[in-house]
Amino acid sequence: MTTPAIELRHYGHDDLPQIRQTLLDVHADAYADQMDDEFNQKFPWFVDHWGGNPGFSCVIAYDSGEPVGFAYGAPAAPGREWWREHVDEPPTDSTTFSFSELMVRPKWRKTGVSEHLHNDLLAHRPEALVVLLVDPSHPKVQALYERWGYKKVGNRQPFPDSPNFAVMLLDLHSTAFYQNGYEK
Ligand SMILES: CC(C)(COP(=O)(O)OP(=O)(O)OC[C@H]1O[C@@H](n2cnc3c(N)ncnc32)[C@H](O)[C@@H]1OP(=O)(O)O)[C@@H](O)C(=O)NCCC(=O)NCCS
Repeated sequence: MTTPAIELRHYGHDDLPQIRQTLLDVHADAYADQMDDEFNQKFPWFVDHWGGNPGFSCVIAYDSGEPVGFAYGAPAAPGREWWREHVDEPPTDSTTFSFSELMVRPKWRKTGVSEHLHNDLLAHRPEALVVLLVDPSHPKVQALYERWGYKKVGNRQPFPDSPNFAVMLLDLHSTAFYQNGYEK
């Protein structure tokens, strides 16, 4: 796998007006073949929902100034984490980061950009856990998250028109790699 010269930039809640269109443009390219799906058409609403969270954290990858992918999420509300109903004995430290979106434009896939975005978003997060939802009809994407250390703990359908997502959990404390930095 060759990694292009990619620059990663970090953004927060206050940056949403500046980055909103970039997120929509990357999404339009990343999901160009799936825009007949009504759920995908709601992406602008999700950007505003997640970006409106004061804890919103986003990493955008640029190749020579051109945005090519992004990852974002926000801290989960205690007691309402996506994993909560699926884990019988929650860990003592159950602080959780909800990893909401990861996408890379087709031209930059299979280059390592997606893993860099993921790792950069999570490196040095203060939470103990990371939770994400993945469409189980995309088993190769689920397998990608499994390679990165996530384990499926259940299923969750947040909206009537959304997929019945697989809920995947990563224990950041047992993954020292994320806390100690990583080789880019
Ligand atoms: C998910 C993503 C960031 C991974 O990028 P990557 O690490 O470079 O890996 P790839 O693009 O090669 O994807 C891994 C495999 O999953 C498949 N895959 C990726 N996204 C998919 C999707 N939305 N639906 C179905 N399969 C998908 C790829 O075809 C690939 O399969 P292959 O190895 O047989 O070619 C990128 O594929 C992407 O942006 N996909 C569209 C958005 C998406 O699905 N995001 C994840 C939401 S949970």
